[in-house]
Amino acid sequence: KKVTAFAPATVANVSCGFDILGFAIDDLGDKVTVELKEAVGLTVARIEGDGGKLPLEADKNTCTVAIQAMLDALGTQKGMEISLEKGLPLGSGMGSSAASAAAALVAANELLGKPFEKNDLVPFAMEAERMACGAAHADNVAPSILGGFVLIRDYDHLDMVKLPVPKGLYCTLVHPHLELKTADSRSVLRQQISLKEATVQSGNIAGLIAGLYQSDYGLISRSLKDVIAEPSRALLIPGFYELREAVMDLGALGSGISGSGPTIFILSQGRNTAIQAGEASKAVFEKIGLGVDIYVSEV
Ligand code: HSE
Repeated sequence: KKVTAFAPATVANVSCGFDILGFAIDDLGDKVTVELKEAVGLTVARIEGDGGKLPLEADKNTCTVAIQAMLDALGTQKGMEISLEKGLPLGSGMGSSAASAAAALVAANELLGKPFEKNDLVPFAMEAERMACGAAHADNVAPSILGGFVLIRDYDHLDMVKLPVPKGLYCTLVHPHLELKTADSRSVLRQQISLKEATVQSGNIAGLIAGLYQSDYGLISRSLKDVIAEPSRALLIPGFYELREAVMDLGALGSGISGSGPTIFILSQGRNTAIQAGEASKAVFEKIGLGVDIYVSEV
């Protein structure tokens, strides 16, 4: 008996929501097939689309680490064989490790007769994130499992809130051909911020959430700012500020680092602006001699 599940790419942080906000990009993602086996234990049989870079060892692969956390919670052991079809580039900031863990959990949960609700799968996927980057952040795994725009209000009780999305909100993803490990781009972050920075960031996160609820594009645009992670991380992404200038000039709502980068996300009202923003971004990266992939999708 086997089950295949798909889980989408995600944009974490969304500028002002460091570690607490993320949304799913439905048409990009990873596919995982989980097959029940007689012999107890988890094995990764095949991985396609990773250029041979991902580990097959069960304690190093996000699919098997997530499923093991789930089986531990059930207090049981099973035999399962996992096949992973990577649709997402590694180290891209598009929630690649999270999508594999999310798809694996959804498939395994189905295979076991759905002992868990979707919300309950999130902590298991967080264990996979902990293994992959050293931090059990949920802002990729929660939207990858639940879909849509998700706020993690609090980690102690894993209080998650699904947020509304205004009609016609589009996301452009600009993926420069660079690889950035989340662990590395977390290591450049400051551990302390000033009272002033905390105030500015709180204003923006509150404004972004209010903008989503009120479908207020102006408020969303004014709120897409990050004074905590972006100043340190933007230095790792050539062309970051040039891209922002180019896309703001043609009417995008805002741009920022997708998760820990190097992918840049741009939010726009309407598909046309989103497409133009993608073209302008491509031109910026061509000038500095970096290849890019561009994806445009409704949020
Ligand atoms: N919130 C995480 C970070 C997302 O910024 O490190 C990683 O994709």
